[in-house]
Amino acid sequence: MEFGKKILCIGAGYVGGPTMAMIAYKCPQYRVTVVDINPARIAQWNSDDLPIYEPGLEEIVKTSRGKNLFFNTDIEGGIKEAEIIFVSVNTPTKTFGSGMGMAADLQYWDKTAKQIRKFAESDKIIVEKSTLPVKTALAMERILTATNNGIHFEVLSNPEFLAEGTGIKDLEDPDRVLIGSRETPSGLKARDSLIEVYANWVPQDRIITSNVWSSELSKLVANAFLAQRISSINSISALCERTDADITEVARAVGMDRRLGNKFLNASVGFGGSCFKKDILNLVYLCRHYGLEEVADYWQGVVTINEYQKERVITNMLSTMFNTLAGKRICLFGFAFKANTSDTRESPAVTISKRLIEEKAELVITDPKALDNAKMDLDTIEGNISYVEDPYEASDGCDAIAVMTEWEAYKNLDFEMIYRSMAKPAFIFDGRNILDHKILFAIGFNVFPIGKPPLTHFK
Ligand code: UDX
Ligand code: UDX
Repeated sequence: MEFGKKILCIGAGYVGGPTMAMIAYKCPQYRVTVVDINPARIAQWNSDDLPIYEPGLEEIVKTSRGKNLFFNTDIEGGIKEAEIIFVSVNTPTKTFGSGMGMAADLQYWDKTAKQIRKFAESDKIIVEKSTLPVKTALAMERILTATNNGIHFEVLSNPEFLAEGTGIKDLEDPDRVLIGSRETPSGLKARDSLIEVYANWVPQDRIITSNVWSSELSKLVANAFLAQRISSINSISALCERTDADITEVARAVGMDRRLGNKFLNASVGFGGSCFKKDILNLVYLCRHYGLEEVADYWQGVVTINEYQKERVITNMLSTMFNTLAGKRICLFGFAFKANTSDTRESPAVTISKRLIEEKAELVITDPKALDNAKMDLDTIEGNISYVEDPYEASDGCDAIAVMTEWEAYKNLDFEMIYRSMAKPAFIFDGRNILDHKILFAIGFNVFPIGKPPLTHFK
């Protein structure tokens, strides 16, 4: 069969894999290939055990794989063949040199641009999918055109807004698709070619266009605004705990104002995930680079409150459990950074586990999907840590349960049975406010939610 468009994606990660699977699924007339430097990851994409857990992903991969969706490591062949190349290699925070701990590490991005230049034999549209500092497309253009080989590369920015756990739904029914291009005839032509891809399933009014720089910046700003809401509500949760106000009631009253809306107002143990912290630090770094110190300080505050919230969980545990955690068994309910994913990158549970070990607590970690990642995250930490899939077994004999992830399954456990098997006094720290606190209290637990008055049996 002759395919209408040949699309390549470099980087088979959380973003590249699902996004390409959706394009292949919605556009059987296109050939979509995903390449990666990591052969083990590609082998997993070609197996029954996909490298990432995302509800609905397996079904769409199975429908298209081998028909118009292919996963392999032939980067050279892929570049030669494709008309449109999405780049979705990772762009972590720099761990060395200038900008260490703040700026984006663009080494994979740079290397990928050079690979494209080396192997390309015809004109290409290059689409930035990774989240990047504003003006990266310019660097990309400079690398691609440095050898002046007569090939025309048009760089577009098309940031991905999917959230993990709802990635497939977000891809299928996005709030918006943003395409940034140069306003030159070739830029606009490339833009239209990418619009054509998304128009196969996304309504035209949700496909928006802008210049390249606005598009690059919009992704950073969208993540910064989302994270800011969480830090805002979490900062108020601390005040609620001092004043007997209830954060759920406050969030409800605030969120009913239609100008504010009710989403992203759940107080928690802090935000995690691969994007929020990295992108805000990147934004802060950019602002400092341009001499905008006040703006940089403003956004830095969002990250500072998030660190504060995680530390507050530990200090609350310490003060309520009689100022010592040494030798106490604490069961973490959930390790993923949010429900419905196995991803633990920047999960608050990682920081909280490390702090609990510093306090010489014993840890039992349970999670329906993320135990393998948890083991890798805590691999180098010396301490008493065990990993138990069954929450009943995990909490058996523990002094406290601390809810880290809002897994639906935790709401429906038999807490009477759990209470009977735990050491007394038994504590529950509900870091996601998902449990029925009154029932837990009636069972006998001492209950410590986030941003609400605790329910304790102590006189
Ligand atoms: C992506 C974006 O790249 C990041 O900027 C954004 O903020 C979040 O989404 P993600 O898909 O989560 O990152 O990253 P990851 O799961 O680490 O996948 C990146 C893949 O690229 C890996 O499989 C890696 O092996 C591959 N890669 C990396 C290459 O194929 N070539 C390289 O040179 C470097
Ligand atoms: C985020 C953005 O939502 C997405 O648009 C972007 O493409 C990538 O980054 P993701 O990190 O996958 O997606 O998950 P998200 O649902 O945004 O949650 C991030 C973190 O915030 C999680 O740890 C989550 O538990 C936490 N959170 C979210 C809260 O603590 N409270 C809330 O009300 C919402």
